[in-house]
Amino acid sequence: MTILQVSAEMVPFAKVGGLADMTGALPRAWSDAGHTVIPVLPLYGNIDVEKYGITKTDLVLTVPLGHWTEYATVYTGLLPGSNVTVYFLRSAEYYDRPGIYGYHDGFEDNDRRFIFLSRAALELAKALDVYPDVVHAHDYHAAPTMAMLRKHYHSDPHLGKTAGVFTIHNIAYQGMYEPSLAMELCGFDQQEFHHGSWFEHDGIFNAMKVGIMFAHKITTVSPTYAEEIRWTPEGKGLQDALQHRGADLVGILNGIDRHSWNPAVDVNIPVNFTPDTIRGKEASKRGLLMSMGLTLQESSDKLPLFGFVSRLTEQKGISLILDAIVPYLEQNRLRMVVLGSGERKFEDGFRSLAERFPKHVLLEVGYNESLSHRIQAASDFYLMPSKFEPCGLTQMFALSYGTIPIVRAIGGLNDSVVGYDPVTFEGTGIRFNMFTADALARSIDAALHLYQREPHWTNVRRNAMSVDFSIERTAQQYVELFGWAVERRQQM
Ligand code: ADP
Ligand code: GLC
Repeated sequence: MTILQVSAEMVPFAKVGGLADMTGALPRAWSDAGHTVIPVLPLYGNIDVEKYGITKTDLVLTVPLGHWTEYATVYTGLLPGSNVTVYFLRSAEYYDRPGIYGYHDGFEDNDRRFIFLSRAALELAKALDVYPDVVHAHDYHAAPTMAMLRKHYHSDPHLGKTAGVFTIHNIAYQGMYEPSLAMELCGFDQQEFHHGSWFEHDGIFNAMKVGIMFAHKITTVSPTYAEEIRWTPEGKGLQDALQHRGADLVGILNGIDRHSWNPAVDVNIPVNFTPDTIRGKEASKRGLLMSMGLTLQESSDKLPLFGFVSRLTEQKGISLILDAIVPYLEQNRLRMVVLGSGERKFEDGFRSLAERFPKHVLLEVGYNESLSHRIQAASDFYLMPSKFEPCGLTQMFALSYGTIPIVRAIGGLNDSVVGYDPVTFEGTGIRFNMFTADALARSIDAALHLYQREPHWTNVRRNAMSVDFSIERTAQQYVELFGWAVERRQQM
């Protein structure tokens, strides 16, 4: 199969969250399975072209935008660890600046930047003279491709038979654009924007809805989230659209890339380990605590360590952590290590905890890939009390590093963490339901209890490390779905 992948992020070139992990891992897995993948990404100003050996080609795309034409210079580079060529689109006007989305409210011209990406990606297929079986668009940034395929390329020699698959990583971000400009930039007839049309939601152009309505198949990143967004307010207003497309909506659970996330070979951690050598985690814990300012003696005590690595946004349930954790810190019952950046109020919340409990709360504000690995390896427990969570990757990383996740049983957390049962010896983590600090506190109590209780502590960690979240399985499920999308395209 030939897959044209369009996204705003991709590991290792440009990352904000799990979207990048997935768009980086899937192409390698597809390529290993014999498929041809053409990933397309903007050449953002802060992508390190030298480090990744990204070079300019002679190809310049002409990109129809509204009633005029714009241009993108094509650069290429290899996806590390694979034979996949990644295509980077350079546009001085749109991408020659640091940052993917801009801070807080985003760049003012994000509508143009991502509509340009969508159109240019389709033009790239023509310029490369390839015939994709599927265009796989990720999140609202690339969603306009789904409508462009149907409206502008339905009889195109390269893209006329191509199916469109749209993957929702997070429906909370929808790409709400000023309608007349968005319709113009996309090259769509203004008349087609009206109340109830496939482009409109609450009077505004809604890129997410466009992706949902025009795709041949729609996926989201876990089966539980697929249900939640259809039937509950987690659909963030797009429940009707999703119900309309219900027969074509599938939840495919994300997977993780064992090349990057594997404690047996991870180069970021001091001692590698497997389920049989899980004591190796102790060296990681000691090393991490000392590197974050504790003495050797403090770092070697038996206090359990709770890790948290995250974008600091409402989604991640940070308010629950801040509300629940203080008594445990006061009573010297646990330590916490936090890595994250995002909303000021959450950064400040963690900062004041770290000031108040300098020996118990270790904090780094910022983005740090290597530290994120060291935290997963060093921690005993991993906190994920999300308000909503389409899938979540960090709990999967935690499990494979023998770090026991404490999760709210929603979205992908519900599909990836099984509550530990000391009677059957089965399960991999600790789950709770209500979005309250009390419910989280009860789970922390359960965690502290489990930590002291052999043989269960050894057993739960062994269970956790033996779960298979391999990206290869996820990639294969997408290929099956692409097959259905192609069939659907042929029926139309
Ligand atoms: P989301 O995509 O909602 O942010 P996921 O759990 O799917 O949540 O993915 C988050 C990804 O971003 C993981 O790879 C995680 O390790 C990484 N990450 C988040 N915050 C940081 C940070 N401050 N430093 C390093 N990595 C981070
Ligand atoms: C989104 C979601 C997260 C998911 C990731 C990758 O950012 O918030 O739950 O794991 O996309 O699909």
